[in-house]
Formats: sequence, structure tokens, C-alpha cells
Amino acid sequence: MSSSFAITEYLDAKTINQQLDELIKMPIYTIKAEALKRYETEYFDKKCAKSKEMIGKAKEIIPGGVQHNLAFNHPFPLVFTKAEGAYLYDIDGNRYFDFLQAGGPTVLGSNPPSVREKVINLLNNGSPSTGLFHEYEYKLAKKICDSMPSVEMFRMFNSGTEACMAAIRVARLATGKKNIIKMGGAYHGWSDQLAYGIRIPGSKWTQAHGVPRFIFRHVQEFFPNDLNDLERKLKINKLKGGTAAVLIEPVGPESGTWPLDYDFNKNVEYLCRKYDALLIFDEVVTGFRIGMSGAQGYFDVSPDLTVFGKTIAGGYPGAGGLGGKKEVMKYLAAGIQTGDKVKKALVGGTMAATPISCVAGYYTLEEIERTNACERAGRMGDLLVKGLKELIKKYNLPFVAFNQGSICHLETVGTMHFSINWKKPWTIPSVIKETSIRKKEMEHMGAAYMAEGLVTLAGSRLYTSAAYDEDMINEALKCFDRVFANVGIKE
Ligand SMILES: Cc1ncc(COP(=O)(O)O)c(C=O)c1O
Repeated sequence: MSSSFAITEYLDAKTINQQLDELIKMPIYTIKAEALKRYETEYFDKKCAKSKEMIGKAKEIIPGGVQHNLAFNHPFPLVFTKAEGAYLYDIDGNRYFDFLQAGGPTVLGSNPPSVREKVINLLNNGSPSTGLFHEYEYKLAKKICDSMPSVEMFRMFNSGTEACMAAIRVARLATGKKNIIKMGGAYHGWSDQLAYGIRIPGSKWTQAHGVPRFIFRHVQEFFPNDLNDLERKLKINKLKGGTAAVLIEPVGPESGTWPLDYDFNKNVEYLCRKYDALLIFDEVVTGFRIGMSGAQGYFDVSPDLTVFGKTIAGGYPGAGGLGGKKEVMKYLAAGIQTGDKVKKALVGGTMAATPISCVAGYYTLEEIERTNACERAGRMGDLLVKGLKELIKKYNLPFVAFNQGSICHLETVGTMHFSINWKKPWTIPSVIKETSIRKKEMEHMGAAYMAEGLVTLAGSRLYTSAAYDEDMINEALKCFDRVFANVGIKE
């Protein structure tokens, strides 16, 4: 088991959260209106003409013109034709530094030849799918079990969303309890029940448009980094049938956008044991990005269930899985099994665990381990954030930059740091309004980054990969410098 991690020094969550508290009290600093206009006319209209034309047509038949929530871009989404290593190329031939990295799965960088060759070999000599067992299903499951001590068994799904659905279903079946407590603001995919308390801690069902409210009868949220709040909820639940599981993103909601104290995870584990609830780690982002043993290895925690996604298929389709202790995973056995006389959770997926996902995933994990890719990607994250902090200082901006290894955050408006207090219901509309105004400015910043050759995740998150080197990071920082030079208080 590899013990190297992407995080060299754990962040000071208290200080960063204070800085974020300050940021959201400040006026909005964003790209100046005349600079945005210049980017729109000089870059997007002139240099992205083919994208503009295609998206114009796509809007007629695809709602919003794009299929991925993260592909949205002001003033219009761009059409990308190639992702290679640390670069992206659009249909007009422009090149970008890729800090989206497909939304997180490509720790090695995009489309590494070492994995691609294995996938091509599979397609030439086998088949992308059979619906039956393939040797790489075993190999990938074994690799994952060998990497994470808490994972004794593993079952693959199509996505992180599906794996999170399976996790809470299994937890309820295994414990005979109904209540699930999640961390406010955290994203665990878009299934009905887990659309609770997303983006804004305390927001309950308010962001879950299209989901009937009764669905959330047995889902609760607690405030990020707030152990007292979690314990209070566990205590109340104890009087009402108990808690099936506590579900958390171990670096904090929205991939660590709201950072957590170092000992937070260990304390959550303690509370789960004390109140007899299962602990579920959602390692969709952190698994094989923070290290081969995941965030659980880094924080020295042994969750009962671990949700996987993204990196376990190395940027190929079919990236989802659930792993955990045998006594819980037995509720997931496929088909009719002899031995375990337990009811089985209803799960499935025609295209889950295809040979293509398993071959890509297996060789991705092998290569990550062989090349210490998590550590290298993390070092690149450190360099990027160090440079961003220097630029923030240079231009005297209220922005906050921090990272958990290769998961980097550049908060310019602090949209994700608002929360909702139901004891003061009259404040709720203003929080929702303020976050949407700030989100718009985050999109404007995202457009400016794009025009300077930087693709980010929604203008505020940046994933680094092992395909970066120091020169590339320095080059990327020059692009950020050009954007920051045109930032001022929103008029
Ligand atoms: C922490 C976390 N859990 C679950 C998911 C859902 O995964 P998927 O997009 O594969 O459904 C995501 C997606 O970004 C995520 O970040």
C-alpha cells in the first residue's frame, strides 16, 4: 500500500474560513465591465467563431446547448475537440491550460498513452461490453481493495451518483434504520434524496427543484465542521429510531470548498461509533487523488462504506463504485447467493463494470501508483496556489486561494460560503439572491480566465494533474496575472 499523499501540509481551516467569512461581507470584486466587453468581442466573437456557430445550433436541440453542467461558459460554451495531458484544444484551434481535468478523474492528465494503449488493445481483441464477468472486473476490484484497508469488497456502478444511492440503500438495509445525515453544502450526485442541503449549508430542499418534499423525510444535514451540530442530530435521532449513516465528503463540502479541521473526520468516526451509525466516506473526488489510500488513508479513518467515482475509470465512462466492510457489502451481492441469508439491496446497471471501464480503471490506478502521480499533482497544486496567493497580494484583492493537494480553490466571490439560518427565515431570500448575483460574477471571471487560456471548474476550482510541470504552472500564473490586472469593485 502506497503511503505518499498529495497533501504536503494540511491547510489551516480556521484561518481560511475566517478569510471566506470576510470575503462574503466585502463588495464584489470582479472583472471590470470594459475588460469583460473586450474579452467578449476580441476573444470570444473573433477567435471562437466556430464554437459560437455550433453552440447556436446545439441550443435548438439540447437544452442550454450543452450536456454537462460544467460546460457552461459566459458568453457561450466552447466546443472542445481534444484533451491531452495538461492541455485542452477547442474547435477553433485555441489551446488552454486544463484545470477542469474532466471534472476530476484525470489525475495522470488527459488521455495518457499508457492507459489508452490498453483500452485500444481491449477493443481490438475483446469487446467494450458483454454483460458477463471479465477478468479486469476482478483486477480493478483487487487493486482498490489492496489500496484501501477499509475496503474489503467492491462493487462497480456507472457513476458517483449511482454509487451514493447504493451507499445509503445498503446502509439502511444493513442497520434497519432510516435516517441519513449528510454534511450541509455537500454534493453527492443528483439523486432525489441526496439533493438535500446542496451548495448552501442549511438550504434543505430549497435547491432540489422537481423533487417532492416528502422524499426528504429521513434525510438531514449538519453544518460543515460543526461536530456539536452533528452530535445533536445523532442524539435526537437516537430517540426516533437511530441513524443509518453519516455521509461526508472528507475534505469538506463541494470538494473542500468549505475546508474542515484536520481532526474533523476522526471525530465524526468517533461519533458514528458512539451513536451506532455507519460512516460513509464519499471519495468520488478524493479517492486516488489525495493518495492511493484516499482521504481515509490521509486522515487515518476507517469508514464502513466508501463511495468511488471519477478516477476509478481514469477518465473513461462508467466511473462509480461502492466499497466497504464485508458485513455491510454482503447486502449488495448480485444474483442469488448461497451462504449469506440476508435481503439484497436493489441495484443494477446494464453498462456498469464494463471491460472498458475496468481496463481503463485498473491501468490508471497502476500508473498512478507506479509514478507517484497523486504526490506530483499535489505538488503542482501547491505551486499554483502559492503563485495565486502572491498575485492576490500584488493586486491587493480580497480573494482566497487554498488547496488540498491537487484540489485547488480560488474563491473570488465566496458563493459557496453562505449558509441559511432557519431561525431567521426572513434572511433566506436575500441569501439566495446574493449567491446568485455572486455566481454570475464567478462566471464572468471564468470567461476572463478562458479568454486568457485557462479552463477552470466554474471559475473557482482548479484541479492539477501529474501532467503539469513547474514551467506550465508558471505560464498559467502569467495568464491569471493578466486577469487579476483587470479586476475591480463591481460597478
Ligand atoms: C463528492 C461527489 N460525490 C458524487 C458525485 C457524483 O458523481 P457523478 O458525477 O459521477 O454522478 C460527485 C460529482 O462531481 C462528487 O463530486
